Amino acid sequence: MAVPAMTATDGTLVRSTTVAPAAVAPATDPTVLPVAITGLGAYLPARTVDNDELSRTLDTSDAWIRTRTGIATRHVAAPEEATSDLALAAARAALADAGVDAADLRAIVVATCTPDHLLPATGPLVAAGLGVEVPAFDLNAACSGFVYGLRVAGALAATADGPVLLIGAEALTRIVDAGDRGTAILFGDGAAAVVLTAHAGAGLGPFDLGSDGSDPSMLWAAATGTRSPATPARLAAGEQYLTMRGGDVYRHAVTRMTASATAVLSAAGVTIDDVDLFVGHQANARILAGVAERLGLPAGRSHVTIDRHGNTSAASVPLALVDARDTGRLGPGDRVLVAAFGAGLTWGSTLLTWEGRRRE
Ligand code: UT7
Repeated sequence: MAVPAMTATDGTLVRSTTVAPAAVAPATDPTVLPVAITGLGAYLPARTVDNDELSRTLDTSDAWIRTRTGIATRHVAAPEEATSDLALAAARAALADAGVDAADLRAIVVATCTPDHLLPATGPLVAAGLGVEVPAFDLNAACSGFVYGLRVAGALAATADGPVLLIGAEALTRIVDAGDRGTAILFGDGAAAVVLTAHAGAGLGPFDLGSDGSDPSMLWAAATGTRSPATPARLAAGEQYLTMRGGDVYRHAVTRMTASATAVLSAAGVTIDDVDLFVGHQANARILAGVAERLGLPAGRSHVTIDRHGNTSAASVPLALVDARDTGRLGPGDRVLVAAFGAGLTWGSTLLTWEGRRRE
């Protein structure tokens, strides 16, 4: 498959034409990690922006946004808040929920595509905020980051003599063009964290993770890295902002999330009727409904938070897990099917069980 050449606004070639190897579909990863989720915590910035507020500066409307996306409002980080601040607050909440002291952590993984900086990573900043010097790093699989993170942080936890913290944290409103109605209405900021602990009787998995990087411009922030560095000309052209071919992404999202979730159920030897709750990446209520319908999910078993959170990328699945717990939809021992999809393209699904206590 030929990878197309792309030209930046200043005329330079940003990706040369190359011949990519033939795509090979990933095999489902049968691994079931002996790891329990023993704590959940979230942080949402105080400020909310509803559709009417956006409609004052954009050529859009509350009716269009609700009908096409399901979003009513979203949280927006304060000017002084960066992703590590959101992540740290979520981390503290999850540790308190699990009854774990930060000093007992063995590693911290931050799933994010909106880090504080290109370097250093956000993980060490969070570790410093918690007052620990454990291994800490970022994982970028865009909106699939939390599900990828469950595989990576889960594997760390499975062999550690203490808990591992996985955080999904994003400040996406910092990388969207506030004047682009195609993206500015979609995204929100927030963070949520889980404490992962080795536990012989627990099961995290199997996993279905995959990627297709043959068309990165479908959903990207072009001038944010080494391919096309953020020169003054590119910044003036707005190439540092996230852009998306929404319709194409939409179709891939429904297809990939459905196939990935189905592969996990098959690998686990269970059916959709064995799933207590489905928590999909919150990108669009219509995408979630389409996936639920294709999976044959019984009514009322998909947890939806996009109405209040918008799309928070790697934070969306753990934020929805916390919301489900806090609203009584997720109880101890419930089997949860999670599925995500995002830039890359990346996708991922797994089965998890929350072992903690139900919030009164
Ligand atoms: O998190 C990673 C994964 N992300 C996703 O999965 C996002 C996937 N994509 C989507 O959710 C949807 O494609 C969008 C919500 C982004 C767009 O919805 P759509 O139903 O695909 O709309 P569209 O892009 O086909 O646009 C339909 C019309 C167009 O006008 P014309 O050409 O029909 O006259 C757009 O210009 O709606 C117009 N439009 C808007 N109108 C009012 C686009 N954005 C807006 C807006 N307000 N905000």
